[in-house]
Amino acid sequence: MSASAAQGGHIPRVTAPMLQAMKASRRPIVMVTAYDTPAARLVDEAGVDAILVGDSLGMTVLGYESTLPVTMDEMVNATAAVARGAMRCLVVADMPFMSYQASADDAVRNAGRLVAEGHAQAVKLEGGARVADSVRRIVAAGVPVMGHLGLTPQSVNTMGGYKVQAKQAAHALQLLEDAEALQDAGVFAIVLECIPLELAALVTAELHVPTIGIGAGTGCDGQVQVFHDLLGLGGDFVPRHAKRYADLSTIIREAMSAYADEVRDGEFPGDSQSTRMDPAALSEVRRVLGNRRPKASGER
Ligand code: KIV
Repeated sequence: MSASAAQGGHIPRVTAPMLQAMKASRRPIVMVTAYDTPAARLVDEAGVDAILVGDSLGMTVLGYESTLPVTMDEMVNATAAVARGAMRCLVVADMPFMSYQASADDAVRNAGRLVAEGHAQAVKLEGGARVADSVRRIVAAGVPVMGHLGLTPQSVNTMGGYKVQAKQAAHALQLLEDAEALQDAGVFAIVLECIPLELAALVTAELHVPTIGIGAGTGCDGQVQVFHDLLGLGGDFVPRHAKRYADLSTIIREAMSAYADEVRDGEFPGDSQSTRMDPAALSEVRRVLGNRRPKASGER
């Protein structure tokens, strides 16, 4: 925590326009996912710029096979929890599958819920030109929108799996057109997921809004990673685009088995985790118990 935070000083909130200014001044944007209050607090204290309440929530914490089953209520609850822990970071909430695809009216209403009930400062949705109208409508309603191109997990069934996208020239040019359509529609930033690093750098150079990469190389204006991947909380599989900065699974497993051993051995709770009764009160309780009528046989 910074000295100013520790002294209760006012810490200015990172805003969507600030991320745009960071592109202009070539300061890399740092973003990470979080799904609950304690994680958001830690990310915030570490000085990260923005938190994404990703619909990856479905896979990282809810145990779903994909992001497709994630509901608006789940996203609103997780976003509100993150907002309670993030005092400084920009909080961006993902719009889950089918919260914006059917109509622009749905898109505006659901983006509004993430801001009004979840306390997000911005929303993110997947897709290019096909979602541009919805982006325009949400922005017009006063909600900053982040785009998401390349590997878009809500379209996993169309893509035929989680694969690097836009490797061919035609697909790469299509992605650039989609990025420009999103920029014209008013997004303040675009996530580029799992595309070749040369393409990410070209797109970044063409746009005036920042790009935030995940599996897209260093040519983007910033990087986003999944909390559980960075900390070794996502099982044995580490995605190619992720780097493990800590192995918290091992630490947690060891702590849990130490706790279990101490409970079974009668070592926990010890004196310092327990409270003793006032001796006079204790002898009064013992006196009353001693005066109870004798139990009939079979009575418990
Ligand atoms: O849901 C998520 O975590 C994301 C990131 C992978 C960008 O969309």
